[in-house]
Amino acid sequence: MATVVRTAFGGRHGDNVAELVEALRRDDPDVLSLVSEQPDELVGHIMFSRALLDAPRELVPVRSLSPLPVAPHWQRRGVGTALIREGLRQLDEQGVPLVFLEGDPAYYSRTGFTPAAEHGFRRPSLRIPEAGFQVVKLSSYEPWMTGTFVYSNTFWDLDLVGLRH
Ligand SMILES: CC(C)(COP(=O)(O)OP(=O)(O)OC[C@H]1O[C@@H](n2cnc3c(N)ncnc32)[C@H](O)[C@@H]1OP(=O)(O)O)[C@@H](O)C(=O)NCCC(=O)NCCS
Repeated sequence: MATVVRTAFGGRHGDNVAELVEALRRDDPDVLSLVSEQPDELVGHIMFSRALLDAPRELVPVRSLSPLPVAPHWQRRGVGTALIREGLRQLDEQGVPLVFLEGDPAYYSRTGFTPAAEHGFRRPSLRIPEAGFQVVKLSSYEPWMTGTFVYSNTFWDLDLVGLRH
């Protein structure tokens, strides 16, 4: 698992994301972790971990999509898209109302993600570029669910929220 993370992200960021995978496994008993495998090879991995939406009425359990590494020689063959679609299907079945992420809108808009700010959601750090802060609403979503997206402590502990320069 760590290998696919390190080769997909590369360098020091790859090491940090590999650490995130281990920490989410340890810290989040509800984490949804899916892999795409070939007979002798792990080609892709996705995690959806616990997070919160700080809505006016109450805290809403939601999910964070991160990370999503696909092995470089398996990229552009639909692996990432299939992992996202299957994850969203399972979370919808579980009654999760919203899934948030930070990423490239050109890629994630293909699987239904839209800029979260357009729906009135607030990002958890001003260091997240507004266009990169995205959300998908699942069937349990209700209109009162507005407010600020809050990452689990794991992301803050590893300083993996937003971009640093
Ligand atoms: C981004 C990533 C997960 C995509 O996975 P993938 O399996 O290659 O993606 P898919 O095959 O499902 O989709 C590929 C399509 O998305 C497009 N695409 C891939 N990355 C893109 C990006 N950053 N921006 C825009 N489009 C992108 C490709 O052009 C391709 O479109 P095409 O088939 O029309 O050419 C993979 O490239 C990867 O692991 N990258 C390094 C790690 C990373 O950045 N992860 C995401 C952040 S958590």
